[in-house]
Amino acid sequence: MTSPPLSAPLESVQALLDKGFTLACRTSDVPAMMPRRVLIQGYGLLICRHRMRFLALDELCPHRQKSMMNGLVMGSELICPHHQYHFDITTGRCLSHPCAALSTYETAVAEGAVFVLFPRPPAQTEAPPQTPLGSDD
Ligand code: FES
Repeated sequence: MTSPPLSAPLESVQALLDKGFTLACRTSDVPAMMPRRVLIQGYGLLICRHRMRFLALDELCPHRQKSMMNGLVMGSELICPHHQYHFDITTGRCLSHPCAALSTYETAVAEGAVFVLFPRPPAQTEAPPQTPLGSDD
């Protein structure tokens, strides 16, 4: 009998980019018990390790909007360094207080790097043509 794979098959970098993923960091840049802060499209996110997975969460704690980049990762929990609220890094849910949950983002690993599927801002719609002031056409 064969063992199940530890993680999903890896995709190629190009396949991930084609799906809209963004390069976040190298897997080796993510410490075992601390989040790694990355900037994606100007937003701070935290990449955390949990077993064989890499998870992406909002950087700012919903309690006081402070960065959790110096937080502690213990198992499946991220502990805010400011007032020690605990968050489930697999769901973003706060386990200490009924505050707002952190958003989580889909991740993938390819060629030793972590990629994040971060929602893009809505595409700009083309502005309607404007009639110049004073034009009688
Ligand atoms: S700022 Fe995170 S628990 Fe207060």
